[in-house]
Amino acid sequence: MTDIKQPVIAVIGLGFVGLAAALGFTEKGYKVYAFDIDERKRTSLQQGKIPFYEPDMEEALSTHLNLDFDICESMEEAIFEADLIFICVGTPYEEEKGLDMSSLISVIHDISRLMNCNDFKGIVVKSTIPPGTMRSTLKPLLESHGLEVGRDVGLAYNPEFLREGSAWEDFLKPDRIIIGEVDSRTARLIEQVYSPFESPCVRVSPETAEYLKYASNALLATLISFANEQAMIAESIGDIDIPQMFNLLHMDKRWSGSPAGMSNYVYPGCGFGGYCLPKDTLALTHTAIQYGHKAKLLEAVMELNQDIADFTAEQIIGLLKHRDEQIGILGLSFKPGSDDVRNSPAARIIQLLLDEGCTNLTAYDPIAMSTFRNHYDFPIRMMNSLNEITVGSDICVIVTAWPEFQSLAYNTSVIQIVDARYMLDINKTYFKENYTRKNG
Ligand SMILES: NC(=O)c1ccc[n+]([C@@H]2O[C@H](COP(=O)([O-])OP(=O)(O)OC[C@H]3O[C@@H](n4cnc5c(N)ncnc54)[C@H](O)[C@@H]3O)[C@@H](O)[C@H]2O)c1
Repeated sequence: MTDIKQPVIAVIGLGFVGLAAALGFTEKGYKVYAFDIDERKRTSLQQGKIPFYEPDMEEALSTHLNLDFDICESMEEAIFEADLIFICVGTPYEEEKGLDMSSLISVIHDISRLMNCNDFKGIVVKSTIPPGTMRSTLKPLLESHGLEVGRDVGLAYNPEFLREGSAWEDFLKPDRIIIGEVDSRTARLIEQVYSPFESPCVRVSPETAEYLKYASNALLATLISFANEQAMIAESIGDIDIPQMFNLLHMDKRWSGSPAGMSNYVYPGCGFGGYCLPKDTLALTHTAIQYGHKAKLLEAVMELNQDIADFTAEQIIGLLKHRDEQIGILGLSFKPGSDDVRNSPAARIIQLLLDEGCTNLTAYDPIAMSTFRNHYDFPIRMMNSLNEITVGSDICVIVTAWPEFQSLAYNTSVIQIVDARYMLDINKTYFKENYTRKNG
């Protein structure tokens, strides 16, 4: 049996994330050296005390302290033997100053000064940072010290999704491990380190990983504010049993399953339409006003539904060389599997293109062409098939995620495609099979 060397790990910054990671890696059998700039925190940890409440972590500390988990007195000592250095320092945000990355930058400077080019070490950032930071700030920072990323030093972003209060369990059983890859050597090493965790490990661009962390928290924040806005409206109306109403809301079967049906609603497209979502969202906004409550989130929801149509139309216009180029609109119903064209995003986008002076619009939909004709009076030509519309068009825009449009991923006759439903990304291994219901 070949003896593969276990990577040695250093963790810098021992807050919720750093301590969970450091102890979590020891729990999985790694030797971990840890350092925190805060002397009191180091002393407390040396005494076996965790300076915050986190179930199960104090036990883990007493199991591993000074065996496979060493608290170091300097950064130099912590990184000396390490193959991977996980940076978990805080990145606080202040209204006036913006995001403070000074601790992270200072740690990268310190590590760079201590690096020996003959001893490759991968730097793995776990602190939450804005998209673009890895490539536009941290990589140049390492290079300014004469280090070449991929040769002398490695760099990757590995966002952390743990929740305070269940940090230990979340770290040990992550839903997915994301590696924002800058150099492949470090990415492979991280994959190796996480292999005992038995969670899906996905290598993505650093920007994707950076954005994912923000999107994940922004989604949770938005859901909480949605619920709170609903409760405020309901309180204003009165006689509504709010907890009961929410419990019944949660009985919607789209919350369960793997993936949960609700994930179709958390996927981008070019807007919602049909009879119920626009009408009922508007009606609730107006009802709230009648009871003295301004539903800011619902108003923003309706505004964004127009913004996404504007955005799609601008994307199309941006690709045009002339206003008389042929634009093929693929899909007219508000969602696949339906011929309902009321408030259809296709109508909004067609109107915007006509307003911009586009003169050569065609459309194709497997079942909704005649209803669309009856409902709207647009000067556009209907095509009989996907083949007919794609052959003649300069640009095709996927507006409804009909399954047959997926064949365009392999079609070479169309010059340009605006995939406004994000359904053609055949390179993604985790492409969702149930894409047909997106935003429906
Ligand atoms: N708290 C969470 O639930 C959570 C979850 C996921 C991601 N994150 C992100 O992870 C990062 C860390 O979060 P946290 O909650 O653990 O923060 P924290 O403030 O609890 O801990 C940060 C630690 O870094 C130490 N530190 C600061 N500068 C240092 C330096 N130069 N050298 C060594 N140590 C230094 C601090 O003393 C502190 O102990 C943040 O970017 C945060 O946004 C946090």
